[in-house]
Amino acid sequence: MTRLDGKAALITGAARGIGRAFAEAYVREGARVAIADIDIARARETAAEIGASAIAVEMDVTSQESIAFGVASTVESFGGIDILINNAAIFSAAPIVEIDRRDYQRVFDINVSGTLFTMQAVAKHMMDRAKGGKIINMASQAGRRGEALVAVYCATKAAVISLTQSAGLNLIEHGINVNAIAPGVVDGEHWDGVDAFFAKYENKAPGQKKREVGEGVPFGRMGVPEDLTGMAVFLASSESDYIVAQCYNVDGGQWMS
Ligand SMILES: NC(=O)c1ccc[n+]([C@@H]2O[C@H](COP(=O)([O-])OP(=O)(O)OC[C@H]3O[C@@H](n4cnc5c(N)ncnc54)[C@H](O)[C@@H]3O)[C@@H](O)[C@H]2O)c1
Repeated sequence: MTRLDGKAALITGAARGIGRAFAEAYVREGARVAIADIDIARARETAAEIGASAIAVEMDVTSQESIAFGVASTVESFGGIDILINNAAIFSAAPIVEIDRRDYQRVFDINVSGTLFTMQAVAKHMMDRAKGGKIINMASQAGRRGEALVAVYCATKAAVISLTQSAGLNLIEHGINVNAIAPGVVDGEHWDGVDAFFAKYENKAPGQKKREVGEGVPFGRMGVPEDLTGMAVFLASSESDYIVAQCYNVDGGQWMS
């Protein structure tokens, strides 16, 4: 018996990186998973590589119509949604005096509005179905404390922690647990982009920032997506039924709260 037998999950931004690792872990635990991503070509490749328990769903979390389509397609394929991971997000960095309003809006649209309105659509489905559910939002250590060059991304992740608290308190009466995971620094394509930002703004050689942050982690290295899957499985399983509105650091000892 695996821990997510018979469950159906929708994971946004699961075409690559951490979301993909979550999808693989959920399938290993007996779930079926919708790989929901704006990059549908990559989502299809990922779903095909994972196998018959995974489907690809085109979804842009900044569009209500696209969220509705993604949720409806997943329900049609699996008969319902038991687990949602709001994982899709983008990174952005700039000194305060260089922040561009359109960039600010885009990052908030994806990271905050996308999380809220995907959560809303899936919560409505879970309430109609009256079988409860599990919602996991991807926060970050960036949401625990501001960073000089990362104001907008940090603010979006602080908002995700706050939304998790409010939604967690609001939805638990329907048997829907809402919790969050705050990773530290996790290697992958996302961090290649972060490294490039710091190369520009801190005048570092490519790869230097990555090395430095890895050396600074108490555990002794950067995280890899698989470091996060244990918490994602736990928060989706019945073992976490009494956990409400929390945000867990999974970061090799970076942050204590
Ligand atoms: N990698 C890290 O160091 C790190 C640290 C802390 C938190 N996180 C968070 O973990 C989550 C996953 O991070 P990752 O490193 O795997 O990122 P990633 O950039 O590798 O993957 C993000 C995925 O989201 C998708 N996406 C982007 N915009 C979208 C949209 N509008 N609609 C739907 N999908 C969209 C992308 O196509 C991509 O597949 C994010 O929420 C991120 O903020 C990552």
